[in-house]
Amino acid sequence: MAVGAAVLLTGAVARAQNLDAEKPPARLFADSCASCHRSPRGLAKGRFTLTLAWFLRDHYTSGPDSAKTLASYLVSVDDAAAAKARPAAKSGKPAGTSRAPRPPASVTGR
Ligand code: HEC
Repeated sequence: MAVGAAVLLTGAVARAQNLDAEKPPARLFADSCASCHRSPRGLAKGRFTLTLAWFLRDHYTSGPDSAKTLASYLVSVDDAAAAKARPAAKSGKPAGTSRAPRPPASVTGR
């Protein structure tokens, strides 16, 4: 009973309080950042997740939680890209053509 009510409520309450709180990082990026940054790749630039989170909190995001979420996301996207390092990346085609990039698997396992 209480659980059911809580489940019903969390969706509405979370929306009302903080639109960003419940979004997965790829969604956050697509909604708030993709208008200017076409791709999450290359934004972390080898920074640590913590310093990146500070930067994001100062400049953009609505709270420390979403800043941290986004920072981990940006870092993990770069890590995944470096791990792949496909030769195709050099072929002049811009990396950020897709609007809603998928996070690599490591995002959820923080
Ligand atoms: C209104 C446009 C705009 C939006 C929206 C925006 N940014 Fe930026 N961002 C910029 C500009 C302009 C710079 C400065 C680029 C530079 O200095 O080369 C920047 C710089 C950055 C940097 C530093 C890059 C560097 O070169 O050091 C990061 C990281 C970053 N943005 C992440 C984000 C994230 C994450 C979001 C979403 C929460 C976001 N940005 C939303 C315009 C935007």
